[in-house]
Amino acid sequence: MKGLILSGGKGSRLYPLTFTSAKQLIPVANKPILFRVIEAVKEAGINEIGIVVGVGSNARQIREAVGRGGRWDVEITFIEQAEPLGLAHAVKTAEDFLGDDPFVMFLGDNVIEGGISKLIGEFAHNEWNSQIVLTRIPNPQQYGVADLADDGTIRRLVEKPKVPPSDLALVGIYMFDKNIHKATHAIKPSWRGELEITDAIQWLIDNGYGVHPYVHRGWWIDTGQPGDMLEANDLVLEELDYTIEGYIDRDSQVGRRVKVERGAEVINSVIRGPAIIGENTRIINSYVGPFTAIYHNVTLENAEIEHSMVLEHSTIRDIEARIQDSLIGRNVTIERSPIKPKSLKFTLGDNSQLGIL
Ligand code: G1P
Repeated sequence: MKGLILSGGKGSRLYPLTFTSAKQLIPVANKPILFRVIEAVKEAGINEIGIVVGVGSNARQIREAVGRGGRWDVEITFIEQAEPLGLAHAVKTAEDFLGDDPFVMFLGDNVIEGGISKLIGEFAHNEWNSQIVLTRIPNPQQYGVADLADDGTIRRLVEKPKVPPSDLALVGIYMFDKNIHKATHAIKPSWRGELEITDAIQWLIDNGYGVHPYVHRGWWIDTGQPGDMLEANDLVLEELDYTIEGYIDRDSQVGRRVKVERGAEVINSVIRGPAIIGENTRIINSYVGPFTAIYHNVTLENAEIEHSMVLEHSTIRDIEARIQDSLIGRNVTIERSPIKPKSLKFTLGDNSQLGIL
Protein backbone atom coordinates (compact mmCIF):
# COMPACT_ATOMS: atom_id res chain seq x y z
CA MET A 1 0.00 0.00 0.00
CA LYS A 2 1.21 3.51 -0.83
CA GLY A 3 0.38 6.93 0.57
CA LEU A 4 -0.58 9.97 -1.48
CA ILE A 5 -0.60 13.30 0.33
CA LEU A 6 -2.02 16.31 -1.45
CA SER A 7 -0.19 19.49 -0.62
CA GLY A 8 -0.91 21.90 -3.46
CA GLY A 9 -3.20 24.91 -3.14
CA LYS A 10 -2.38 28.46 -2.16
CA GLY A 11 -4.18 28.61 1.19
CA SER A 12 -5.67 31.96 0.22
CA ARG A 13 -8.29 31.77 2.98
CA LEU A 14 -5.43 31.96 5.48
CA TYR A 15 -3.78 35.08 4.03
CA PRO A 16 -1.66 36.87 5.18
CA LEU A 17 -0.24 33.95 7.16
CA THR A 18 0.14 31.85 4.03
CA PHE A 19 1.12 34.69 1.75
CA THR A 20 4.79 33.83 1.98
CA SER A 21 4.61 30.22 3.12
CA ALA A 22 2.58 27.08 2.53
CA LYS A 23 -0.39 26.47 4.82
CA GLN A 24 0.58 22.85 5.25
CA LEU A 25 3.72 24.08 7.01
CA ILE A 26 1.89 26.11 9.65
CA PRO A 27 2.67 24.39 12.95
CA VAL A 28 -0.31 23.08 14.89
CA ALA A 29 0.81 22.55 18.50
CA ASN A 30 4.34 23.28 17.23
CA LYS A 31 4.44 20.71 14.43
CA PRO A 32 3.61 21.48 10.77
CA ILE A 33 0.27 19.94 9.80
CA LEU A 34 1.91 18.17 6.88
CA PHE A 35 4.37 16.45 9.25
CA ARG A 36 1.43 15.23 11.33
CA VAL A 37 -0.11 13.77 8.16
CA ILE A 38 3.16 12.04 7.17
CA GLU A 39 3.41 10.58 10.69
CA ALA A 40 -0.19 9.30 10.55
CA VAL A 41 0.52 7.56 7.21
CA LYS A 42 3.80 6.08 8.49
CA GLU A 43 2.09 4.90 11.68
CA ALA A 44 -0.35 2.95 9.50
CA GLY A 45 2.64 0.97 8.19
CA ILE A 46 3.07 2.79 4.87
CA ASN A 47 6.63 3.63 3.83
CA GLU A 48 6.24 4.79 0.24
CA ILE A 49 4.67 8.22 0.18
CA GLY A 50 4.01 10.53 -2.75
CA ILE A 51 3.40 14.20 -2.04
CA VAL A 52 1.58 16.16 -4.73
CA VAL A 53 2.78 19.77 -4.76
CA GLY A 54 2.05 22.70 -7.02
CA VAL A 55 4.70 24.83 -8.66
CA GLY A 56 6.33 27.97 -7.25
CA SER A 57 7.63 29.00 -3.86
CA ASN A 58 5.12 27.09 -1.70
CA ALA A 59 6.09 23.86 -3.44
CA ARG A 60 9.77 24.66 -2.99
CA GLN A 61 9.28 25.27 0.74
CA ILE A 62 7.42 22.00 1.13
CA ARG A 63 10.16 20.07 -0.67
CA GLU A 64 12.82 21.70 1.52
CA ALA A 65 10.96 21.18 4.79
CA VAL A 66 10.12 17.52 4.13
CA GLY A 67 13.28 16.39 2.36
CA ARG A 68 13.49 12.77 1.30
CA GLY A 69 11.69 11.39 4.33
CA GLY A 70 14.67 10.01 6.27
CA ARG A 71 13.47 11.73 9.41
CA TRP A 72 10.40 9.49 9.46
CA ASP A 73 12.10 6.50 7.89
CA VAL A 74 9.87 6.71 4.81
CA GLU A 75 10.64 7.25 1.15
CA ILE A 76 9.12 10.45 -0.21
CA THR A 77 8.50 11.13 -3.90
CA PHE A 78 7.36 14.60 -4.96
CA ILE A 79 4.83 14.80 -7.76
CA GLU A 80 4.26 18.09 -9.49
CA GLN A 81 0.73 19.17 -10.33
CA ALA A 82 1.19 22.16 -12.63
CA GLU A 83 -2.34 23.49 -12.07
CA PRO A 84 -4.78 22.93 -9.19
CA LEU A 85 -7.42 21.17 -11.29
CA GLY A 86 -8.96 19.05 -8.54
CA LEU A 87 -8.31 16.07 -6.30
CA ALA A 88 -9.11 13.52 -9.02
CA HIS A 89 -6.72 15.39 -11.30
CA ALA A 90 -4.05 15.04 -8.60
CA VAL A 91 -4.61 11.25 -8.63
CA LYS A 92 -4.22 11.28 -12.44
CA THR A 93 -0.98 13.25 -12.07
CA ALA A 94 0.29 10.65 -9.59
CA GLU A 95 -0.55 7.62 -11.77
CA ASP A 96 3.06 6.70 -12.54
CA PHE A 97 3.96 6.80 -8.85
CA LEU A 98 0.90 4.79 -7.78
CA GLY A 99 1.03 2.07 -10.46
CA ASP A 100 -1.48 -0.70 -9.70
CA ASP A 101 -1.00 -0.48 -5.92
CA PRO A 102 -3.78 0.30 -3.48
CA PHE A 103 -3.26 3.61 -1.72
CA VAL A 104 -4.53 5.98 0.91
CA MET A 105 -5.01 9.59 -0.14
CA PHE A 106 -4.80 12.16 2.63
CA LEU A 107 -5.29 15.91 2.24
CA GLY A 108 -2.23 17.64 3.68
CA ASP A 109 -4.21 20.23 5.64
CA ASN A 110 -6.50 17.84 7.50
CA VAL A 111 -6.04 16.83 11.12
CA ILE A 112 -7.93 13.83 12.50
CA GLU A 113 -8.16 12.29 15.94
CA GLY A 114 -6.68 8.87 16.45
CA GLY A 115 -4.74 8.40 13.19
CA ILE A 116 -5.61 6.09 10.29
CA SER A 117 -4.07 2.73 11.24
CA LYS A 118 -7.44 1.15 12.00
CA LEU A 119 -8.92 2.36 8.71
CA ILE A 120 -6.00 1.04 6.69
CA GLY A 121 -6.21 -2.30 8.51
CA GLU A 122 -9.90 -2.66 7.66
CA PHE A 123 -9.35 -1.72 4.04
CA ALA A 124 -6.51 -4.23 3.70
CA HIS A 125 -8.65 -7.07 5.11
CA ASN A 126 -11.70 -6.49 2.96
CA GLU A 127 -12.51 -6.78 -0.72
CA TRP A 128 -13.66 -3.18 -1.06
CA ASN A 129 -12.42 -1.15 -4.02
CA SER A 130 -12.53 2.01 -1.97
CA GLN A 131 -13.18 3.18 1.55
CA ILE A 132 -14.23 6.74 2.33
CA VAL A 133 -14.30 8.48 5.70
CA LEU A 134 -17.39 10.40 6.75
CA THR A 135 -18.15 12.49 9.79
CA ARG A 136 -21.20 14.35 11.06
CA ILE A 137 -20.82 18.14 10.89
CA PRO A 138 -23.12 21.15 11.19
CA ASN A 139 -22.14 22.84 7.87
CA PRO A 140 -21.99 20.00 5.28
CA GLN A 141 -22.74 22.28 2.31
CA GLN A 142 -19.05 23.31 2.29
CA TYR A 143 -17.90 19.72 1.72
CA GLY A 144 -18.63 16.55 -0.20
CA VAL A 145 -21.73 14.96 1.37
CA ALA A 146 -22.90 11.33 1.47
CA ASP A 147 -26.45 10.07 1.32
CA LEU A 148 -26.57 6.63 2.95
CA ALA A 149 -29.33 4.04 2.53
CA ASP A 150 -30.95 2.39 5.59
CA ASP A 151 -28.60 -0.57 5.30
CA GLY A 152 -25.59 1.77 5.57
CA THR A 153 -24.51 1.56 1.92
CA ILE A 154 -23.86 4.72 -0.09
CA ARG A 155 -26.75 5.86 -2.24
CA ARG A 156 -25.16 9.03 -3.58
CA LEU A 157 -22.27 11.47 -3.04
CA VAL A 158 -22.58 15.17 -3.85
CA GLU A 159 -19.93 17.86 -3.83
CA LYS A 160 -20.85 21.05 -1.91
CA PRO A 161 -24.63 20.66 -2.25
CA LYS A 162 -26.84 23.72 -1.62
CA VAL A 163 -29.31 21.42 0.10
CA PRO A 164 -27.26 18.64 1.74
CA PRO A 165 -28.94 15.22 1.75
CA SER A 166 -27.40 14.49 5.19
CA ASP A 167 -24.92 15.89 7.71
CA LEU A 168 -22.27 13.33 6.74
CA ALA A 169 -19.30 15.13 5.20
CA LEU A 170 -16.45 13.49 3.34
CA VAL A 171 -13.28 13.83 5.40
CA GLY A 172 -10.15 14.33 3.30
CA ILE A 173 -9.00 10.72 3.68
CA TYR A 174 -9.74 8.09 1.02
CA MET A 175 -8.57 4.56 0.26
CA PHE A 176 -8.56 3.19 -3.29
CA ASP A 177 -7.48 0.22 -5.35
CA LYS A 178 -6.35 0.55 -8.97
CA ASN A 179 -9.92 0.89 -10.29
CA ILE A 180 -9.93 4.55 -9.26
CA HIS A 181 -7.79 5.29 -12.33
CA LYS A 182 -10.64 4.20 -14.63
CA ALA A 183 -12.87 6.62 -12.76
CA THR A 184 -10.52 9.62 -12.92
CA HIS A 185 -10.28 9.11 -16.69
CA ALA A 186 -14.03 8.78 -17.15
CA ILE A 187 -15.30 11.86 -15.28
CA LYS A 188 -15.64 15.42 -16.56
CA PRO A 189 -14.80 18.68 -14.72
CA SER A 190 -17.43 20.03 -12.32
CA TRP A 191 -19.04 23.50 -12.28
CA ARG A 192 -15.92 24.81 -10.50
CA GLY A 193 -13.75 23.49 -13.30
CA GLU A 194 -12.17 20.72 -11.19
CA LEU A 195 -12.00 16.97 -11.57
CA GLU A 196 -13.72 16.09 -8.29
CA ILE A 197 -12.70 13.01 -6.33
CA THR A 198 -16.33 12.90 -5.16
CA ASP A 199 -17.45 12.41 -8.79
CA ALA A 200 -14.79 9.73 -9.31
CA ILE A 201 -16.08 7.80 -6.27
CA GLN A 202 -19.65 8.20 -7.51
CA TRP A 203 -18.45 6.71 -10.82
CA LEU A 204 -17.11 3.68 -8.91
CA ILE A 205 -20.49 3.24 -7.19
CA ASP A 206 -22.43 3.64 -10.46
CA ASN A 207 -20.24 1.06 -12.13
CA GLY A 208 -20.71 -1.61 -9.50
CA TYR A 209 -17.47 -1.24 -7.52
CA GLY A 210 -17.57 -1.63 -3.74
CA VAL A 211 -17.16 1.63 -1.82
CA HIS A 212 -17.32 1.31 1.94
CA PRO A 213 -18.34 4.28 4.09
CA TYR A 214 -16.58 4.56 7.45
CA VAL A 215 -18.18 6.96 9.91
CA HIS A 216 -15.48 8.60 12.03
CA ARG A 217 -16.59 9.59 15.53
CA GLY A 218 -13.64 11.56 16.87
CA TRP A 219 -12.76 15.10 15.91
CA TRP A 220 -11.66 16.19 12.44
CA ILE A 221 -10.48 19.62 11.35
CA ASP A 222 -9.92 20.92 7.84
CA THR A 223 -7.61 23.81 8.66
CA GLY A 224 -8.78 26.15 5.91
CA GLN A 225 -9.62 29.20 8.02
CA PRO A 226 -7.79 30.93 10.92
CA GLY A 227 -10.51 29.84 13.40
CA ASP A 228 -10.09 26.22 12.28
CA MET A 229 -6.35 26.51 12.83
CA LEU A 230 -6.82 27.63 16.44
CA GLU A 231 -9.35 24.86 17.00
CA ALA A 232 -6.96 22.26 15.61
CA ASN A 233 -4.30 23.69 17.91
CA ASP A 234 -6.65 23.33 20.91
CA LEU A 235 -7.43 19.72 20.10
CA VAL A 236 -3.86 18.63 19.43
CA LEU A 237 -2.55 20.44 22.53
CA GLU A 238 -4.75 18.18 24.63
CA GLU A 239 -3.09 15.06 23.19
CA LEU A 240 0.54 16.06 23.67
CA ASP A 241 3.20 14.20 25.45
CA TYR A 242 4.01 16.74 28.16
CA THR A 243 7.74 16.81 28.73
CA ILE A 244 10.06 19.48 30.03
CA GLU A 245 13.27 19.63 28.01
CA GLY A 246 14.01 23.31 28.47
CA TYR A 247 14.92 25.35 31.55
CA ILE A 248 12.42 26.63 34.09
CA ASP A 249 13.68 28.90 36.83
CA ARG A 250 12.57 28.66 40.46
CA ASP A 251 10.38 31.73 40.28
CA SER A 252 8.17 30.26 37.56
CA GLN A 253 5.06 28.15 37.85
CA VAL A 254 4.51 25.66 35.08
CA GLY A 255 1.39 23.48 35.01
CA ARG A 256 1.31 19.73 34.51
CA ARG A 257 0.04 19.79 30.93
CA VAL A 258 2.84 21.90 29.50
CA LYS A 259 5.54 20.88 27.07
CA VAL A 260 8.72 22.94 27.12
CA GLU A 261 10.95 22.07 24.18
CA ARG A 262 14.73 21.92 23.97
CA GLY A 263 16.63 25.11 24.65
CA ALA A 264 13.54 27.03 25.80
CA GLU A 265 13.76 29.21 28.92
CA VAL A 266 10.97 30.14 31.28
CA ILE A 267 11.94 32.92 33.66
CA ASN A 268 9.73 34.35 36.39
CA SER A 269 6.61 33.37 34.45
CA VAL A 270 3.37 31.41 34.80
CA ILE A 271 2.35 28.82 32.22
CA ARG A 272 -0.99 27.07 32.44
CA GLY A 273 -1.56 24.09 30.18
CA PRO A 274 -2.36 22.71 27.84
CA ALA A 275 0.41 24.70 26.22
CA ILE A 276 3.67 24.24 24.37
CA ILE A 277 6.79 26.39 24.36
CA GLY A 278 9.06 25.88 21.35
CA GLU A 279 12.79 25.36 21.00
CA ASN A 280 15.00 28.27 22.07
CA THR A 281 11.99 30.39 22.95
CA ARG A 282 12.27 32.73 25.95
CA ILE A 283 9.34 33.49 28.22
CA ILE A 284 10.27 36.24 30.67
CA ASN A 285 8.02 37.90 33.32
CA SER A 286 5.04 36.69 31.37
CA TYR A 287 1.85 34.65 31.54
CA VAL A 288 1.02 31.95 29.00
CA GLY A 289 -2.52 30.69 29.40
CA PRO A 290 -4.29 27.48 28.32
CA PHE A 291 -4.43 26.45 24.66
CA THR A 292 -1.39 28.40 23.56
CA ALA A 293 1.36 27.21 21.24
CA ILE A 294 4.47 29.33 21.08
CA TYR A 295 6.79 28.11 18.35
CA HIS A 296 10.59 28.19 18.10
CA ASN A 297 12.82 31.22 18.71
CA VAL A 298 10.11 33.48 20.07
CA THR A 299 10.61 36.08 22.79
CA LEU A 300 7.73 36.87 25.13
CA GLU A 301 8.63 39.44 27.73
CA ASN A 302 6.34 41.34 30.12
CA ALA A 303 3.30 40.08 28.26
CA GLU A 304 0.23 37.88 28.72
CA ILE A 305 -1.15 35.56 26.09
CA GLU A 306 -3.81 32.89 26.02
CA HIS A 307 -5.58 30.68 23.48
CA SER A 308 -3.24 31.74 20.67
CA MET A 309 -0.55 30.60 18.30
CA VAL A 310 2.74 32.44 17.77
CA LEU A 311 5.05 31.36 14.95
CA GLU A 312 8.82 31.45 14.84
CA HIS A 313 11.13 34.41 15.39
CA SER A 314 8.42 36.70 16.70
CA THR A 315 8.75 39.05 19.65
CA ILE A 316 6.04 40.26 21.99
CA ARG A 317 7.22 42.70 24.64
CA ASP A 318 5.83 45.11 27.25
CA ILE A 319 2.18 44.69 26.33
CA GLU A 320 -0.25 45.47 29.14
CA ALA A 321 -3.44 43.93 27.82
CA ARG A 322 -3.76 40.17 27.50
CA ILE A 323 -3.48 38.84 23.93
CA GLN A 324 -6.16 36.28 23.24
CA ASP A 325 -7.58 34.19 20.35
CA SER A 326 -4.75 35.36 18.11
CA LEU A 327 -2.74 33.85 15.30
CA ILE A 328 0.61 35.64 15.07
CA GLY A 329 2.86 34.83 12.12
CA ARG A 330 6.60 34.64 11.66
CA ASN A 331 9.06 37.48 12.37
CA VAL A 332 6.33 39.64 13.90
CA THR A 333 7.20 42.28 16.51
CA ILE A 334 4.59 43.60 18.91
CA GLU A 335 5.97 46.01 21.47
CA ARG A 336 5.29 49.18 23.36
CA SER A 337 6.91 52.14 21.75
CA PRO A 338 8.11 54.99 24.00
CA ILE A 339 8.48 57.43 21.13
CA LYS A 340 6.13 60.45 21.06
CA PRO A 341 3.53 61.18 19.80
CA LYS A 342 1.65 58.47 21.66
CA SER A 343 0.11 56.52 18.81
CA LEU A 344 -0.50 53.07 17.40
CA LYS A 345 2.04 52.04 14.78
CA PHE A 346 1.42 49.16 12.38
CA THR A 347 3.10 47.37 9.54
CA LEU A 348 0.47 44.81 8.55
CA GLY A 349 0.32 42.53 5.53
CA ASP A 350 -2.65 42.32 3.17
CA ASN A 351 -5.80 40.86 4.77
CA SER A 352 -4.46 41.25 8.34
CA GLN A 353 -6.97 41.58 11.15
CA LEU A 354 -6.29 43.62 14.25
CA GLY A 355 -8.53 44.03 17.31
CA ILE A 356 -7.80 47.23 19.26
CA LEU A 357 -8.82 47.82 22.88
C1 G1P B 1 -12.35 18.61 -0.79
C2 G1P B 1 -13.34 17.60 -1.36
C3 G1P B 1 -14.56 17.49 -0.44
C4 G1P B 1 -14.10 17.13 0.96
C5 G1P B 1 -13.06 18.15 1.47
C6 G1P B 1 -12.47 17.72 2.80
O1 G1P B 1 -12.92 19.90 -0.82
O2 G1P B 1 -13.72 18.02 -2.67
O3 G1P B 1 -15.44 16.50 -0.93
O4 G1P B 1 -15.23 17.11 1.83
O5 G1P B 1 -11.99 18.27 0.54
O6 G1P B 1 -11.56 18.66 3.30
P1 G1P B 1 -12.06 21.21 -1.21
O7 G1P B 1 -11.03 21.36 -0.17
O8 G1P B 1 -11.50 20.95 -2.56
O9 G1P B 1 -13.06 22.34 -1.22
